[in-house]
Amino acid sequence: MKILTDPIELQHQCLTWRNQGLTIGLVPTMGFLHDGHMSLIDMARPQCDKLVVTLFVNPTQFGENEDLDNYPNDFDGDCAKAEAHGADIVFAPAPDAMYAPDHSTWVNVPPLGTHLCGASRPIHFRGVCTVVTKLFNLVQPTKAVFGQKDWQQLAIIRRMVRDLNIPVEILGHPIVRETDGLALSSRNAYLTEAERAAAPAIRQGLLKLAERVKNGTRDAEAAKHWLVKEYASTLPMGIVDYIELVTPDSIEPVTTISSPTLAAVAIRVGKARLLDNILIEV
Ligand code: PAF
Repeated sequence: MKILTDPIELQHQCLTWRNQGLTIGLVPTMGFLHDGHMSLIDMARPQCDKLVVTLFVNPTQFGENEDLDNYPNDFDGDCAKAEAHGADIVFAPAPDAMYAPDHSTWVNVPPLGTHLCGASRPIHFRGVCTVVTKLFNLVQPTKAVFGQKDWQQLAIIRRMVRDLNIPVEILGHPIVRETDGLALSSRNAYLTEAERAAAPAIRQGLLKLAERVKNGTRDAEAAKHWLVKEYASTLPMGIVDYIELVTPDSIEPVTTISSPTLAAVAIRVGKARLLDNILIEV
C-alpha cells in the first residue's frame, strides 16, 4: 500500500490505472477509522481493481467554533487498518495541498442542504461537495462509498453527481452500530462514560417513533413533538439540534407521513454532536 500526500501524484497514479483499464474504488474519510469506515472499505474492495482511501479532515466543511482543531486522529492506526482491509493507496494531504491560498471555486447543492445539518451548519455541505468533487477529479473512481449515517450528505452527493454528470457510481452503506445500537462515529470518542451509557437512547427513540408510525401516526409535527418529549425523559443530558421528518431523496420536510420518510436527528451529548436516522416505510 502506498501512502500519498501529493494530489498530483495521486492523480497521476490513478490516471495510469484508468489507462490500463482498471477500475478504482474510492472511500473518502476524515480518518480516525472505526468499524463503520471499515465496512465502507470492505464494500468497495471486491467491487474494484484498485482501492483508494482518503484521510483528510477537510477544513472547509467546519464552521467557526466547531471541532476542526480537536478532530480525533490516529494516522498510523488508520494506515494499518486501511492496508489490512486491502487499500492500494491511502491519500492524506495537508490542507494547503488541497486548497490554494486563493481557492475560490465552490460546489454547492443548496436545495438539499437547507434542512437538517444544513440549518445549523450553513457552510458544511458546500465544503463537503467541494472536497468530494476534488477527490473525484483526482481519483476518477468507478465507484465511491459513503455511509448512510450521514444520509443528507449521501443524498446531496448523489444529486451533485447526477447534476454535474460525474462518471462515478455512488454506493450507500447502512449504518454500522455498537451492540447497544449507538451509531458508530469518530465523534463518539468525545463521550464521557456516563454520556456513552446514555447515548443508545437516540436509536431507541427512533425505533419507537417508527413503531408509532407503523401503528398509525401520520402527523409529522405530532411525531416530532413525541420524540422531543421522549428524549427529554430518556436522554435528559441531550440537547436536540434537530429532529426532522423529511423525504429521503430531496430532504424536504413532510407534514403527513404517507410515503417512505426519513426520520433524522442530531443530538448534542456533552462535546459530541451525534447523528442518527431511520427510514420509515409506510
Ligand atoms: O463523511 C465524511 O467523513 C466527510 O464529510 C467526507 C465525505 C470525507 C468529506 O470530507
